Amino acid sequence: MHHFIYKDNELYCESVAIADIAKAVGTPFYLYSSATLTHHFNTFDKSFGELPHMTCFAVKACSNLAILRLFSTLGGGADIVSGGELYRSLKAGVDPRRIIYSGVGKTEEELRYGLVSGILMFNVESEQELEKLQKVAREQELVAPVSFRINPDVDPKTHAYISTGLAKNKFGIPVEQAEKVYLRARDMSHIKIMGVSCHIGSQLTEISPFTEALHKVKLFIKRLETHGIIIDYLDLGGGLGVRYQDEKPPHPQEYARALKKEMAGLECTLVLEPGRVIVSNAGILISQVLYTKKTETKNFIIVDAAMNDLARPSLYGAHHDILPVIRNTGKAAAGSLQIADVVGPICETGDFLARDRELPAFEQGDLMAVMSSGAYGFTMSSNYNSRPRAAEVLVKDDQFYVIRARENYETLIRDESIPDFLE
Ligand code: LLP
Repeated sequence: MHHFIYKDNELYCESVAIADIAKAVGTPFYLYSSATLTHHFNTFDKSFGELPHMTCFAVKACSNLAILRLFSTLGGGADIVSGGELYRSLKAGVDPRRIIYSGVGKTEEELRYGLVSGILMFNVESEQELEKLQKVAREQELVAPVSFRINPDVDPKTHAYISTGLAKNKFGIPVEQAEKVYLRARDMSHIKIMGVSCHIGSQLTEISPFTEALHKVKLFIKRLETHGIIIDYLDLGGGLGVRYQDEKPPHPQEYARALKKEMAGLECTLVLEPGRVIVSNAGILISQVLYTKKTETKNFIIVDAAMNDLARPSLYGAHHDILPVIRNTGKAAAGSLQIADVVGPICETGDFLARDRELPAFEQGDLMAVMSSGAYGFTMSSNYNSRPRAAEVLVKDDQFYVIRARENYETLIRDESIPDFLE
């Protein structure tokens, strides 16, 4: 469900005509609907009902301050993976007691920052990280709350780049080794064991890998109990998939029902770290057609957004639906469809938003919406080819707000300098 809908053949976000935003802000820009974001967050969170749980939004999916603030007003916490994400979350007003710090490579400085900020817990991923955290905590005269991320060796059946819970992936500690690590942590002076965590991958479209992982974690928690180690938080990570094309991911309610069943007999609070399922279909990328070009073999639609703005098609071969902002103009009025590649201005053949796609006959100047771009869209964008990054806009009802200004040439070079010897 989302709030990007046609009214008289013109695409709106809630009650705002997208063409009006483009006129005011220029293109390309990311556009988010606050009604969709709110609906998705609440649907997910409320699916767990009375079960003690915490929804910690995965900041990496969409990290704009305004969006983080929105989720925190809805009672959400944050799942972070860097000092930068911690900084953003705190600036956005997320309660540190609802922040979980994940990731395989936290630096000493980042561990310290998390610790002094009073976050709920660190999901520690190696014994060396544990040692480092103990050292930092002792220096700060604080006790570090930890959970260990275990690698359950479960196949999430998703794209290889975003599968994380297989034994061959870099993430977590194998279950067989984890028990020893917990016993070690229990004896450390500045470490407090809080939980067990796991995250098996992203864009999962089946429930069984989640329940399989949860079952393994549950057995592991029972084993820890025999050592007198009591677990307060079970963090199952994120990963619930969305529909980009014809996938049929489970509804959050179905997902929650299965997890709740598997949680029976456990006393702990369930922590969830959803990213994509909350924001993906709540955001789109708006771009304008610069040129069209026909060759012997192809039709090209060259637009002003590129792989630096939305990396997913180039990086994962991901599908994003493409819609015209104004339907029924020009050739499209006659219903003429064409097979075309939608490409950006970047100097790489891999720079495309769609390939061999059946599309309306877009013409120069037309606006185009690249759908389902709210997750891992702006957050994965770069300045490649010295392209200033796009603006981000949030709509609420009949108003729109620029929540990140478009970068400009000045901001591009702001932090660079030419050393004296080149003067
Ligand atoms: N928790 C942890 C520890 C994670 O590593 C991730 C995602 C999440 C939660 C959130 O997962 P989600 O609910 O969004 O599936 N750039 C890729 C996705 C990378 C996911 C990385 N980790 C893409 O565009 O498909």
